[in-house]
Amino acid sequence: MNKNVVIFASGEGSNAQKIIDYFQHSNYVTISLIASNKANANVLTRAKNNNIPTFVLDRELFYKGNEIVEYLKSIKTDLIVLAGFLWMIPENLIKAFPDKIINIHPSLLPKFGGKGMYGMNVHKAVLAANENQSGITIHLVNEYYDQGKIIAQHSCAINEHETVASLSEKVQLMEHEYFPKAIEHFLAAK
Ligand code: GRF
Repeated sequence: MNKNVVIFASGEGSNAQKIIDYFQHSNYVTISLIASNKANANVLTRAKNNNIPTFVLDRELFYKGNEIVEYLKSIKTDLIVLAGFLWMIPENLIKAFPDKIINIHPSLLPKFGGKGMYGMNVHKAVLAANENQSGITIHLVNEYYDQGKIIAQHSCAINEHETVASLSEKVQLMEHEYFPKAIEHFLAAK
């Protein structure tokens, strides 16, 4: 049976692109919508280039009322994938899609998660703590930042001369490789 996946992303959308590419010829997963809180986010250009409908989220509507939830239900959303989405998900959305919202985080949660831990901040904190490994976490979204049930984790070693840039590159490659597969496994297990 076909599953409709909606992607929420705030920026560049390199992960969204990998997800689009991975499911391009899939018979049972459709990327039905890409939503962003930023009208000029590159991820929306990527969506348009791939003929995927787009939606710009209005902050007022996102946090008040039920219109967004109703819209997502009306297009029969099976899964919401957060791929670099920086707004906190409101409770009504979490309740409307229980265990149907997943996020990717560029560290081995529960380490280096929580408020302010996004983008380069994460990698800086990992290096400052002298960790010998980092990685990615794919997890369910609940009402607390980065604290939902973990679905998949993949780690990489941090070498002696690691920099924020090299670590970020390494982690991004892992995201691109594992996120689409994790989405596929998650949907298949449902
Ligand atoms: C990724 O590193 C992801 O882990 C984080 O935001 C970044 C998004 O990058 N949550 P992109 O927009 O997919 O290129």
